[in-house]
Amino acid sequence: MKILVLGSGGREHALAWKIAQSERVSKVYVAPGNAGTASVGENIQINIADFQAIKDVVLKNEMEMVVVGPEQPLVDGIVDFFKKDADLKDVKIIGPDKNGAQLEGSKAFAKRFMERYGIPTAACFTVTAENLNEGVEYLSTLEAPYVLKADGLAAGKGVLILNDLEEARTELKEMLSGKFGSASAKVVIETFLKGIEVSMFVLTDGNDYVILPEAKDYKRIGDGDKGLNTGGMGAVSPVPFVTPDFVSKVEERIIKPTIKGLKAESIDYKGFIFLGLMNCGGDPYVIEYNVRMGDPETEGVMTRIDSDFAQLLDACAQGKLAEAHYKASPDTSVTVMLVSGGYPEAYKKGMIISGLDDVCQCCTVAHAGTKFNADGNVVTSGGRVIAVTAHGKDIEEARAKAYKNVEKIKFDGVNFRHDIGLDLMNL
Ligand code: AMP
Ligand code: GLY
Repeated sequence: MKILVLGSGGREHALAWKIAQSERVSKVYVAPGNAGTASVGENIQINIADFQAIKDVVLKNEMEMVVVGPEQPLVDGIVDFFKKDADLKDVKIIGPDKNGAQLEGSKAFAKRFMERYGIPTAACFTVTAENLNEGVEYLSTLEAPYVLKADGLAAGKGVLILNDLEEARTELKEMLSGKFGSASAKVVIETFLKGIEVSMFVLTDGNDYVILPEAKDYKRIGDGDKGLNTGGMGAVSPVPFVTPDFVSKVEERIIKPTIKGLKAESIDYKGFIFLGLMNCGGDPYVIEYNVRMGDPETEGVMTRIDSDFAQLLDACAQGKLAEAHYKASPDTSVTVMLVSGGYPEAYKKGMIISGLDDVCQCCTVAHAGTKFNADGNVVTSGGRVIAVTAHGKDIEEARAKAYKNVEKIKFDGVNFRHDIGLDLMNL
């Protein structure tokens, strides 16, 4: 089987790396990919917003399955494009249709969906320019902190958490006047959920589902969760508080009602559901749905899958997930992201990366923002650059291995968090 992975980050490198291990896979393609994905497959330089260009490479190379990494093509309807095209009808594609992708593409849609199916989530009120005054009033009925969410995709930046009511009112008005462009023409105001977050990943064929390893990600730039939000600085899997009891609550209260809801609304969903959950005193609440895998969680999660992942995806695309074999490793994985100096604010690109060959074979290296320069050197090309994942019998052992190897990779301005997993060791 020839498989195409769409995207260019660490998540896509990890997906391609895992898929390429399958005996059933003759070749993996990544579009557009990065310097790392070039070592597990062939990079194809196309713009993944251009569905016709994707169709052309799929047909030309006789690819049999497409795995969509990021959310934007899903929200833009790539699955519908494939299903409607007579030439592509036999090509499998992993991801929900445009309607299903609204679970991530519109926070208001996701909240209404959860309300319809009784799925636990924070109470909310949706505001547009027309009912701004009601929104302002709703805010004053809440206690701080105040949570304001842009309805649409805002590159992970559309959520504001504010301690001051006056500031929340001002921000609400600014969001509605285009602070996040059209993404914030509608704003969801939510009550604040107190607890610890965890990312859970479900693969569903629309009827059955498999729960993949969960992970905790570390979003802030600085140690101790200080400083600005980033795309993710590291991850740990499994998460100690995700006990069998917690998982069964997630299944009964969230996963099963979600799949039931998708079916009831005739949504064609053969893909990943990423549940961003808050564990509030042992009870799971949905903070957000994503319709793709998480980044940097995937870089760790893929290393913990001990069965044939391509086969699992193939079964999913064919609606035969119930028959598929799936096994997760009992190991703990710790993933540390190396980032460019200055990130998530301004940073330089094009720094030569050295030491990659010195990293122990026991670690898995996923490239997040790299490319080859004209001389064939691997250089930085983004804020998040390389994710190093190590395994151990527990967090302590995995951390020690990961950090020993992180130190071997060098580039001008390199930065990383030193405390990935520490909070979970002291729970
Ligand atoms: P989202 O984009 O919806 O995942 O929100 C980004 C981040 O904001 C989440 O990862 C949480 O840390 C935080 N957050 C979002 N909604 C809430 C909420 N209702 N209560 C507490 N924190 C939240
Ligand atoms: N790690 C969070 C995300 O991928 O959205």
